[in-house]
Amino acid sequence: MPDTRSSALAHVRQTATRNDPVSILSALDDYGMNHEFLMNVGPEKGPLLAARVGALGKGARVLELGCFCGYSAVLIGSALPEGGTLTGVEVDADSVQVARQMIDYAGLSNHVSIVHGASDVIIPTLSGSFELVFLDHWKDLYKPDLLALEHHQLLKEGSVVFADNVGPAFNPKEYLDYVRQCGHYDTEYHRSHIEYTDREDGIEISIFRAG
Ligand SMILES: C[S@@+](CC[C@H](N)C(=O)[O-])C[C@H]1O[C@@H](n2cnc3c(N)ncnc32)[C@H](O)[C@@H]1O
Repeated sequence: MPDTRSSALAHVRQTATRNDPVSILSALDDYGMNHEFLMNVGPEKGPLLAARVGALGKGARVLELGCFCGYSAVLIGSALPEGGTLTGVEVDADSVQVARQMIDYAGLSNHVSIVHGASDVIIPTLSGSFELVFLDHWKDLYKPDLLALEHHQLLKEGSVVFADNVGPAFNPKEYLDYVRQCGHYDTEYHRSHIEYTDREDGIEISIFRAG
């Protein structure tokens, strides 16, 4: 029996248009709402993420931790400014396969790539800096991985750290206390809902202040 991710990809191939990210996201939203739950960033929080990506400068580099089926990779990839790139990090091999096929179907493989591995292993191998980091993997890893990003100098003045699922259902205190109190970030919470439900969720958007 196919798993949720393969079924979602099959649904995309049957109902969405190749090289059309909007129709692919819409097919995934349809699947998540009407077939099986998908832990995508989804149609309410997604546009906030796309707006932040779209506001970055030419050649911006974006990092995503946690890719699942590739919904947010397609969203970010289609919002990137000219010359921009997205590097996704995903620990689960089956999700990597599905996300790569989703990105290929969306026609975004030229500037979106998925690295297979655990964030704590991959982060120290990265170089340069990222204009935006999307945190959307397991929630207890947000703080340690943010500390690792800082330690490896992968953030620079003005880098945006966009954290999904920091609403009350996700026990986000440790992460939120850190970004709000450490003094390195200008940070704000946006109230929202868990994708495809009416349960409260939130995102925290934090701007890194290097000084
Ligand atoms: C909420 S889903 C990501 C959803 C995706 N960002 C989207 O909006 O379409 C979380 C993903 O994080 C992955 N993950 C969990 N821990 C990880 C880690 N340490 N490194 C990389 N990926 C991880 C899981 O396998 C899962 O696919």
